[in-house]
Amino acid sequence: MSDNTSSSMQNQFANKAQAWSARFTEPVSDLVKRYTASVNFDKRLAAFDIQGSLAHATMLATVGVISNDDLQAIERGMAQILDEIAQQQFEWSIDLEDVHLNIEKRLVEIIGDAGKRLHTGRSRNDQVATDIRLWLRAEIDTAITLLQQLRKGLATLALKHSDTILPGFTHLQVAQPVTFGHHLLAYAEMFGRDAERLADCRKRVNRLPLGAAALAGTSYPIDREQVASLLEFDGVCRNSLDAVSDRDFAIEFCAAAALIMTHISRFSEELVLWVSPRVGFIDIADRFCTGSSIMPQKKNPDVPELARGKTGRVNGHLMALLTLMKGQPLAYNKDNQEDKEGLFDSADTIRDTLTIFVDMVDGIRVHPEAMRAAALQGFATATDLADYLVKKGLPFRDAHETVALAVRKCEEKGCDLADLSLDELKAFHPSIEEDIYGVLTLEGSVASRNHIGGTAPERVRFEAERILGE
Ligand code: ARG
Repeated sequence: MSDNTSSSMQNQFANKAQAWSARFTEPVSDLVKRYTASVNFDKRLAAFDIQGSLAHATMLATVGVISNDDLQAIERGMAQILDEIAQQQFEWSIDLEDVHLNIEKRLVEIIGDAGKRLHTGRSRNDQVATDIRLWLRAEIDTAITLLQQLRKGLATLALKHSDTILPGFTHLQVAQPVTFGHHLLAYAEMFGRDAERLADCRKRVNRLPLGAAALAGTSYPIDREQVASLLEFDGVCRNSLDAVSDRDFAIEFCAAAALIMTHISRFSEELVLWVSPRVGFIDIADRFCTGSSIMPQKKNPDVPELARGKTGRVNGHLMALLTLMKGQPLAYNKDNQEDKEGLFDSADTIRDTLTIFVDMVDGIRVHPEAMRAAALQGFATATDLADYLVKKGLPFRDAHETVALAVRKCEEKGCDLADLSLDELKAFHPSIEEDIYGVLTLEGSVASRNHIGGTAPERVRFEAERILGE
């Protein structure tokens, strides 16, 4: 205990279990204490809580609400607290409910009365909203960096496989040949939009609630712009009631996180399919797989499967936060304390998932022969034959019909379109010439789709290089 502890009335904050307990005649039960406390999960906001407090104290000193001596004491006390937390010597107490009261109580223990002045013109309501925004801003920046790394990893692999051909699917039926690079870059596009979404969300996260105090603002001559600039916020929340109560910025983040995981789950599904021995398009490095305790031959793609599964919890957090906010009257309500665990878990899940995926994409080994063999099955170039006939003057619908008949013949014969002789092909339409074989090849098919967004190797190289140059 510090030298400032005494039994006098002035020191009741340092002595009492709860900051507000002077008003109450009976203590809460242990269960209610546990039920209402958030310190076990919000203590991870400690560094941001201190950062916010230091900016607030600096402002209070600038406008003359506290003295410079008080400010210096607060800075010294907070430095010590940060150190104690880093050394894991800080004693978190559930009696003190949350991260804010734990830190404030310790500050008062260390520096005495100056610590008690810190909360002037402020409330835990604007304090917690500020902490979450500071924390979330950092998480957003990390996630954007990881998404960019993942995009570059995909682009690197795409460049290597700009002319590796595999079947493209619709309805999981062989549709048309595509290049593997093109397939990978589809995900690079999705993750690019995810990064844009986060950058957009960040704009609304990056506003300062402090100054709203409990709900109505404060009568002290505060300078909110100074606090905003110290904390590198782009501006201040313009309405105190809104500032302390709405969590739409957290909901937006959870929506963006849910979409990231949704994209990850699509990619995961393909990875799981591709590594299946039945398909055998790729191998992923052993460090992302596990064996079976009973079947010695197994190499299970656990990481993509788990990532696919974890999408569920992140989607769930979005629904939980929307439901938490729905119907809440102005201004702050304790419901909002429930915003944190889901939000934290969403951020943790995307951070871990993206970090692992950056590494996993780097370790993908491709089997072009297996991809090619699959593309040669299922009449992947049927559309090319139809397009060939259109270029010879047939209306597309007639060409479509003609090719359908040719496919039926191949199915009967058990061969591919390219295996039919020129005479057999001519029987379907006399305009078919020797040059048809150039069209029916996989290479001819992909090379012909040479426009922005097409699968041609040249286009894939262009797009991959664009992403790598970002
Ligand atoms: N632990 C609270 C939260 O997470 C902090 C704000 C508490 N404010 C209050 N008036 N009880 O929302």
